[in-house]
Amino acid sequence: MKIDGSTKVLCIIGDPIEHSLSPAIQNAAFRELGLDMVYVPFRVAQDRLEEAVNSIRALNMAGMNVTIPHKEKVMMYLDRVDELARFIGAVNTIVNRDGELIGYNTDADGYLESLAVEAGFDPKGKNVIIVGAGGAGRAILCAFLAAEVNSVVIANRTFDRAKKLADEFRIKNESIEAVDFDGIYPYMKTADLIVNTTSLGMMDKGSLDLPLGLLPKGSVVSDIVYRPLKTEFLKKAEAIGLKTHGGLGMLVYQGAIGFELWTGRKAPVEAMKKAALEALKEK
Ligand code: ATR
Repeated sequence: MKIDGSTKVLCIIGDPIEHSLSPAIQNAAFRELGLDMVYVPFRVAQDRLEEAVNSIRALNMAGMNVTIPHKEKVMMYLDRVDELARFIGAVNTIVNRDGELIGYNTDADGYLESLAVEAGFDPKGKNVIIVGAGGAGRAILCAFLAAEVNSVVIANRTFDRAKKLADEFRIKNESIEAVDFDGIYPYMKTADLIVNTTSLGMMDKGSLDLPLGLLPKGSVVSDIVYRPLKTEFLKKAEAIGLKTHGGLGMLVYQGAIGFELWTGRKAPVEAMKKAALEALKEK
Protein backbone atom coordinates (compact mmCIF):
# COMPACT_ATOMS: atom_id res chain seq x y z
CA MET A 1 0.00 0.00 0.00
CA LYS A 2 1.36 3.41 -0.98
CA ILE A 3 0.75 6.18 1.54
CA ASP A 4 1.70 9.75 0.69
CA GLY A 5 0.52 13.33 1.08
CA SER A 6 -2.63 12.77 -0.93
CA THR A 7 -3.81 9.70 1.00
CA LYS A 8 -7.12 10.26 2.77
CA VAL A 9 -7.11 9.08 6.38
CA LEU A 10 -10.01 7.62 8.35
CA CYS A 11 -10.04 6.06 11.78
CA ILE A 12 -12.03 4.30 14.47
CA ILE A 13 -12.00 5.39 18.10
CA GLY A 14 -13.09 3.31 21.08
CA ASP A 15 -11.84 1.90 24.36
CA PRO A 16 -10.88 -0.92 24.13
CA ILE A 17 -10.13 -1.00 20.40
CA GLU A 18 -7.61 -3.83 20.00
CA HIS A 19 -10.19 -6.39 18.84
CA SER A 20 -11.95 -4.20 16.29
CA LEU A 21 -12.33 -5.82 12.86
CA SER A 22 -13.20 -2.52 11.19
CA PRO A 23 -9.62 -1.63 10.09
CA ALA A 24 -9.36 -4.96 8.24
CA ILE A 25 -12.83 -4.52 6.70
CA GLN A 26 -12.38 -0.91 5.53
CA ASN A 27 -8.80 -1.27 4.27
CA ALA A 28 -9.86 -4.33 2.27
CA ALA A 29 -12.58 -2.22 0.64
CA PHE A 30 -10.13 0.58 -0.21
CA ARG A 31 -7.72 -1.96 -1.71
CA GLU A 32 -10.49 -3.66 -3.67
CA LEU A 33 -11.51 -0.39 -5.36
CA GLY A 34 -7.95 0.98 -5.56
CA LEU A 35 -8.79 4.02 -3.44
CA ASP A 36 -6.02 6.16 -1.96
CA MET A 37 -7.39 5.86 1.58
CA VAL A 38 -6.27 4.29 4.83
CA TYR A 39 -8.13 3.44 8.05
CA VAL A 40 -6.47 3.17 11.47
CA PRO A 41 -7.63 2.32 15.02
CA PHE A 42 -7.10 4.62 18.02
CA ARG A 43 -7.76 3.85 21.65
CA VAL A 44 -9.35 6.99 23.10
CA ALA A 45 -10.19 7.38 26.80
CA GLN A 46 -13.54 8.91 27.75
CA ASP A 47 -12.01 12.22 28.88
CA ARG A 48 -10.20 12.70 25.54
CA LEU A 49 -13.27 12.25 23.33
CA GLU A 50 -13.77 15.91 22.47
CA GLU A 51 -10.12 16.30 21.47
CA ALA A 52 -10.32 13.14 19.37
CA VAL A 53 -13.38 14.45 17.48
CA ASN A 54 -11.76 17.84 16.94
CA SER A 55 -8.72 16.10 15.51
CA ILE A 56 -10.84 15.13 12.48
CA ARG A 57 -10.78 18.79 11.48
CA ALA A 58 -7.23 19.47 12.67
CA LEU A 59 -5.81 16.51 10.72
CA ASN A 60 -8.29 16.85 7.86
CA MET A 61 -9.44 13.24 8.16
CA ALA A 62 -12.23 12.11 5.84
CA GLY A 63 -14.21 10.54 8.65
CA MET A 64 -14.31 8.37 11.71
CA ASN A 65 -16.09 5.38 13.18
CA VAL A 66 -17.02 5.57 16.83
CA THR A 67 -17.49 2.57 19.06
CA ILE A 68 -18.05 1.71 22.72
CA PRO A 69 -18.00 3.68 25.01
CA HIS A 70 -18.27 6.87 22.93
CA LYS A 71 -21.32 6.37 20.68
CA GLU A 72 -23.77 8.45 22.71
CA LYS A 73 -21.55 11.22 24.08
CA VAL A 74 -19.91 11.92 20.72
CA MET A 75 -23.14 13.48 19.44
CA MET A 76 -22.54 16.67 21.41
CA TYR A 77 -19.30 17.43 19.57
CA LEU A 78 -20.74 17.22 16.05
CA ASP A 79 -22.13 19.97 13.82
CA ARG A 80 -25.08 17.91 12.66
CA VAL A 81 -26.63 14.55 13.48
CA ASP A 82 -28.70 12.62 10.96
CA GLU A 83 -32.34 11.91 11.88
CA LEU A 84 -32.00 8.14 12.34
CA ALA A 85 -28.94 8.60 14.57
CA ARG A 86 -30.89 11.11 16.66
CA PHE A 87 -33.77 8.65 16.89
CA ILE A 88 -31.38 5.93 18.09
CA GLY A 89 -29.47 8.36 20.31
CA ALA A 90 -26.07 7.16 19.13
CA VAL A 91 -23.58 7.85 16.35
CA ASN A 92 -21.16 5.28 14.97
CA THR A 93 -20.05 7.06 11.78
CA ILE A 94 -18.81 10.61 11.25
CA VAL A 95 -18.37 12.22 7.85
CA ASN A 96 -16.15 15.29 7.41
CA ARG A 97 -17.85 17.39 4.69
CA ASP A 98 -15.47 20.30 4.15
CA GLY A 99 -14.99 20.80 7.86
CA GLU A 100 -18.59 20.14 8.85
CA LEU A 101 -18.83 17.02 11.00
CA ILE A 102 -21.99 15.01 10.38
CA GLY A 103 -22.98 12.05 12.53
CA TYR A 104 -24.79 8.94 11.29
CA ASN A 105 -25.78 5.62 12.75
CA THR A 106 -25.30 2.75 10.32
CA ASP A 107 -25.93 -0.06 12.85
CA ALA A 108 -29.70 -0.18 12.33
CA ASP A 109 -29.58 -0.22 8.53
CA GLY A 110 -26.58 -2.54 8.63
CA TYR A 111 -28.61 -5.01 10.67
CA LEU A 112 -31.64 -4.77 8.36
CA GLU A 113 -29.48 -5.16 5.28
CA SER A 114 -27.74 -8.26 6.59
CA LEU A 115 -31.08 -9.70 7.66
CA ALA A 116 -32.45 -9.15 4.15
CA VAL A 117 -29.42 -10.47 2.29
CA GLU A 118 -28.42 -13.32 4.60
CA ALA A 119 -31.78 -14.51 5.96
CA GLY A 120 -34.20 -13.17 3.34
CA PHE A 121 -36.19 -11.59 6.16
CA ASP A 122 -38.31 -8.44 5.74
CA PRO A 123 -39.53 -7.21 9.17
CA LYS A 124 -42.54 -5.34 7.76
CA GLY A 125 -45.73 -6.57 9.47
CA LYS A 126 -43.84 -9.18 11.52
CA ASN A 127 -43.78 -10.02 15.23
CA VAL A 128 -40.28 -9.77 16.66
CA ILE A 129 -38.63 -10.38 20.04
CA ILE A 130 -35.52 -8.44 21.02
CA VAL A 131 -33.48 -9.97 23.85
CA GLY A 132 -31.53 -7.21 25.63
CA ALA A 133 -32.15 -3.56 26.32
CA GLY A 134 -28.65 -2.04 26.00
CA GLY A 135 -27.24 0.14 23.22
CA ALA A 136 -27.35 -2.62 20.63
CA GLY A 137 -30.92 -3.56 21.55
CA ARG A 138 -31.92 0.05 21.19
CA ALA A 139 -30.42 0.37 17.69
CA ILE A 140 -32.17 -2.82 16.58
CA LEU A 141 -35.47 -1.66 18.09
CA CYS A 142 -35.19 1.53 16.02
CA ALA A 143 -34.38 -0.54 12.94
CA PHE A 144 -37.52 -2.65 13.39
CA LEU A 145 -39.70 0.38 14.05
CA ALA A 146 -38.37 2.08 10.92
CA ALA A 147 -39.09 -1.15 8.99
CA GLU A 148 -42.71 -1.12 10.22
CA VAL A 149 -42.91 -4.31 12.24
CA ASN A 150 -46.29 -5.37 13.58
CA SER A 151 -45.17 -5.88 17.18
CA VAL A 152 -42.01 -5.87 19.30
CA VAL A 153 -41.34 -7.57 22.62
CA ILE A 154 -38.24 -6.46 24.52
CA ALA A 155 -37.05 -9.17 26.90
CA ASN A 156 -34.33 -8.31 29.37
CA ARG A 157 -32.77 -9.80 32.50
CA THR A 158 -33.48 -6.50 34.26
CA PHE A 159 -37.16 -5.86 33.58
CA ASP A 160 -37.01 -2.14 34.46
CA ARG A 161 -34.51 -1.48 31.70
CA ALA A 162 -36.73 -3.20 29.12
CA LYS A 163 -39.74 -1.25 30.38
CA LYS A 164 -37.89 2.06 30.15
CA LEU A 165 -36.92 1.36 26.55
CA ALA A 166 -40.43 0.21 25.62
CA ASP A 167 -42.01 3.29 27.25
CA GLU A 168 -39.64 5.61 25.43
CA PHE A 169 -40.51 4.25 21.99
CA ARG A 170 -44.18 3.39 22.45
CA ILE A 171 -45.16 6.68 20.82
CA LYS A 172 -43.75 5.31 17.55
CA ASN A 173 -45.52 1.97 17.75
CA GLU A 174 -48.19 1.05 20.28
CA SER A 175 -47.39 -2.63 20.30
CA ILE A 176 -44.10 -2.61 22.16
CA GLU A 177 -44.12 -4.85 25.22
CA ALA A 178 -41.47 -5.29 27.90
CA VAL A 179 -40.91 -8.58 29.73
CA ASP A 180 -38.26 -10.30 31.82
CA PHE A 181 -36.83 -13.63 30.67
CA ASP A 182 -39.64 -15.63 32.28
CA GLY A 183 -42.28 -13.50 30.59
CA ILE A 184 -40.95 -14.24 27.12
CA TYR A 185 -42.48 -17.71 26.65
CA PRO A 186 -46.04 -16.80 25.56
CA TYR A 187 -44.68 -14.43 22.92
CA MET A 188 -42.39 -17.04 21.42
CA LYS A 189 -45.32 -19.01 20.01
CA THR A 190 -46.22 -16.23 17.58
CA ALA A 191 -42.80 -14.70 16.90
CA ASP A 192 -41.44 -14.48 13.37
CA LEU A 193 -37.97 -13.57 14.63
CA ILE A 194 -36.02 -13.48 17.89
CA VAL A 195 -32.71 -11.64 18.14
CA ASN A 196 -30.09 -11.73 20.86
CA THR A 197 -28.59 -8.25 21.35
CA THR A 198 -26.86 -9.04 24.65
CA SER A 199 -23.25 -10.15 24.99
CA LEU A 200 -24.40 -13.63 26.08
CA GLY A 201 -22.84 -16.25 23.83
CA MET A 202 -19.53 -14.41 23.37
CA MET A 203 -16.39 -16.48 23.89
CA ASP A 204 -16.01 -15.94 27.62
CA LYS A 205 -19.69 -15.47 28.56
CA GLY A 206 -22.49 -17.88 29.39
CA SER A 207 -25.01 -18.66 26.67
CA LEU A 208 -28.60 -17.55 26.21
CA ASP A 209 -30.90 -20.40 27.08
CA LEU A 210 -34.47 -20.12 25.81
CA PRO A 211 -37.01 -22.80 24.79
CA LEU A 212 -36.57 -22.22 21.06
CA GLY A 213 -38.86 -25.16 20.35
CA LEU A 214 -41.79 -22.85 21.12
CA LEU A 215 -41.09 -20.77 18.03
CA PRO A 216 -43.20 -21.44 14.94
CA LYS A 217 -41.58 -23.37 12.10
CA GLY A 218 -40.01 -20.99 9.61
CA SER A 219 -39.14 -18.33 12.18
CA VAL A 220 -35.68 -16.77 12.25
CA VAL A 221 -33.23 -16.88 15.17
CA SER A 222 -30.75 -14.03 14.95
CA ASP A 223 -27.70 -13.20 17.07
CA ILE A 224 -25.56 -10.09 16.88
CA VAL A 225 -22.64 -11.87 18.56
CA TYR A 226 -20.00 -12.88 15.98
CA ARG A 227 -17.30 -14.24 18.27
CA PRO A 228 -17.86 -17.19 17.82
CA LEU A 229 -19.44 -16.97 14.38
CA LYS A 230 -22.03 -19.52 15.42
CA THR A 231 -23.13 -19.13 19.04
CA GLU A 232 -24.65 -21.93 21.10
CA PHE A 233 -27.96 -20.08 20.75
CA LEU A 234 -27.76 -20.38 16.94
CA LYS A 235 -26.54 -23.98 17.11
CA LYS A 236 -29.58 -24.94 19.17
CA ALA A 237 -31.87 -23.17 16.72
CA GLU A 238 -30.23 -24.88 13.77
CA ALA A 239 -30.50 -28.28 15.47
CA ILE A 240 -34.31 -27.97 15.56
CA GLY A 241 -34.54 -26.79 11.99
CA LEU A 242 -34.99 -23.05 12.48
CA LYS A 243 -33.43 -20.50 10.16
CA THR A 244 -30.42 -18.74 11.72
CA HIS A 245 -28.72 -15.40 11.17
CA GLY A 246 -25.27 -14.64 12.67
CA GLY A 247 -23.76 -11.34 13.81
CA LEU A 248 -20.90 -10.82 11.37
CA GLY A 249 -23.20 -9.50 8.65
CA MET A 250 -24.36 -6.59 10.80
CA LEU A 251 -20.74 -5.58 11.35
CA VAL A 252 -19.89 -5.85 7.65
CA TYR A 253 -23.00 -4.03 6.40
CA GLN A 254 -22.76 -1.20 8.94
CA GLY A 255 -19.21 -0.78 7.64
CA ALA A 256 -20.38 -0.95 4.04
CA ILE A 257 -22.89 1.87 4.62
CA GLY A 258 -20.13 3.95 6.29
CA PHE A 259 -17.81 3.27 3.34
CA GLU A 260 -20.49 4.51 0.94
CA LEU A 261 -21.03 7.69 2.97
CA TRP A 262 -17.29 8.45 2.93
CA THR A 263 -16.49 7.52 -0.65
CA GLY A 264 -19.74 7.86 -2.60
CA ARG A 265 -18.88 4.46 -4.13
CA LYS A 266 -20.75 1.18 -3.88
CA ALA A 267 -19.13 -0.90 -1.15
CA PRO A 268 -17.40 -4.14 -2.22
CA VAL A 269 -19.31 -6.16 0.37
CA GLU A 270 -17.89 -9.57 -0.55
CA ALA A 271 -14.30 -8.36 -0.16
CA MET A 272 -15.26 -6.76 3.17
CA LYS A 273 -16.87 -9.99 4.40
CA LYS A 274 -13.84 -12.02 3.41
CA ALA A 275 -11.52 -9.60 5.24
CA ALA A 276 -13.72 -9.77 8.35
CA LEU A 277 -13.59 -13.58 8.35
CA GLU A 278 -9.82 -13.60 7.91
CA ALA A 279 -9.26 -11.01 10.64
CA LEU A 280 -11.53 -12.96 12.96
CA LYS A 281 -9.38 -16.06 12.50
CA GLU A 282 -6.23 -14.14 13.37
CA LYS A 283 -7.55 -12.38 16.50
P1 ATR B 1 -24.51 -2.76 24.71
O1 ATR B 1 -24.50 -1.27 24.60
O2 ATR B 1 -23.33 -3.40 24.04
O3 ATR B 1 -25.80 -3.38 24.28
P2 ATR B 1 -25.09 -2.74 27.55
O4 ATR B 1 -25.73 -1.42 27.44
O5 ATR B 1 -24.19 -2.98 28.71
O6 ATR B 1 -24.23 -3.09 26.26
O7 ATR B 1 -26.23 -3.86 27.51
C1 ATR B 1 -25.94 -5.17 27.68
C2 ATR B 1 -27.21 -6.00 27.56
O8 ATR B 1 -26.83 -7.33 27.78
C3 ATR B 1 -28.28 -5.68 28.60
O9 ATR B 1 -29.54 -5.97 28.08
C4 ATR B 1 -27.90 -6.66 29.72
O10 ATR B 1 -28.97 -6.98 30.59
P3 ATR B 1 -29.23 -6.08 31.92
O11 ATR B 1 -29.92 -4.83 31.46
O12 ATR B 1 -30.07 -6.94 32.76
O13 ATR B 1 -27.87 -5.82 32.51
C5 ATR B 1 -27.54 -7.85 28.89
N1 ATR B 1 -26.67 -8.80 29.61
C6 ATR B 1 -25.34 -8.70 29.81
N2 ATR B 1 -24.88 -9.77 30.50
C7 ATR B 1 -25.97 -10.57 30.74
C8 ATR B 1 -26.16 -11.82 31.41
N3 ATR B 1 -25.13 -12.47 31.97
N4 ATR B 1 -27.41 -12.34 31.45
C9 ATR B 1 -28.45 -11.69 30.86
N5 ATR B 1 -28.34 -10.51 30.22
C10 ATR B 1 -27.11 -9.95 30.17
